[in-house]
Amino acid sequence: MTVTAHPTTASAAATPATAMNATAMKKVIILGATSGIALEVQRQLARQGCELLLVARSPQRLAELQADLLVRGAQQVLTYSADLASIQQHAAIFEFGRHTFLDFDTVLLAYGSMHNQKDSETSVDVLLEELQVNFVSAAAILTLFAADLERRRTGCLAAITSVAGDRGRRSNYVYGSTKGALSIFLQGLRSRLHPAGVRVITIKPGPVQTPMTDHLPNSARFADPEQVARDIVRALERRSPDVLYTPRIWRYIMTAVQQIPETIFKRLSF
Ligand SMILES: NC(=O)c1ccc[n+]([C@@H]2O[C@H](COP(=O)([O-])OP(=O)(O)OC[C@H]3O[C@@H](n4cnc5c(N)ncnc54)[C@H](OP(=O)(O)O)[C@@H]3O)[C@@H](O)[C@H]2O)c1
Repeated sequence: MTVTAHPTTASAAATPATAMNATAMKKVIILGATSGIALEVQRQLARQGCELLLVARSPQRLAELQADLLVRGAQQVLTYSADLASIQQHAAIFEFGRHTFLDFDTVLLAYGSMHNQKDSETSVDVLLEELQVNFVSAAAILTLFAADLERRRTGCLAAITSVAGDRGRRSNYVYGSTKGALSIFLQGLRSRLHPAGVRVITIKPGPVQTPMTDHLPNSARFADPEQVARDIVRALERRSPDVLYTPRIWRYIMTAVQQIPETIFKRLSF
């Protein structure tokens, strides 16, 4: 689906009190601002008085978010509607950020899709769409922002991958492989940008209660997006970690999962 790029802007009428208390003012670009996880991140950043540039597909949802985040304390909220899977639209998104959201310091990539695994096994079109949304387009747009931050020798790039990318499982290896590829991409990008002082954060959530997962069994037991967002905001603010597992227990779970020998792992039906 292609949506025409449509920039809109708005600023808070008056500087909210929360902004005056903020210790480190941030200008954050969110790619995929309507995601369940991003919504919570944005609310927390708004409470800190951050300035935000939200990129997502739906102009209507962007307008609603803009109004909500200004009320919650964001100093400025700009919006830009675009289909992020469409690489042809990336240059315009980047230029809008560069010229209209001057000296932004943080970019969070939060969009993604998780098709039914069976559909990706039977349809190459579905498989390619998953790769395009979660990896190809993500690597493409991060490359634009990486060059800018590298040139300015400042800032932070963060992207949401998944614990599903740590090991290929029978039941979701297509989605998992897109996230695994993105994690490897970020790892290399981190090393490239390290000499320029640009941070690159790989965010690996376990299952989270969002629209992406609400059809899954046991989704009520998945992590609270507010908790996941708190971990993400903390990681954006501080100098560590490079790879964030959230909730934290997933670091230990995935360490154990990665130890299972392949000869056993291939027999597991999950
Ligand atoms: N929920 C989990 O359990 C979980 C676990 C690990 C990782 N993640 C990852 O976390 C990220 C956020 O997902 P979520 O859990 O918050 O799910 P979500 O609420 O379903 O969010 C997915 C977002 O991606 C956006 N999107 C998809 N294709 C797009 C495109 N072509 N252009 C622009 N936006 C597009 C959707 O936009 P629309 O609103 O326009 O549809 C939606 O806002 C994803 O990368 C996901 O893979 C999620």
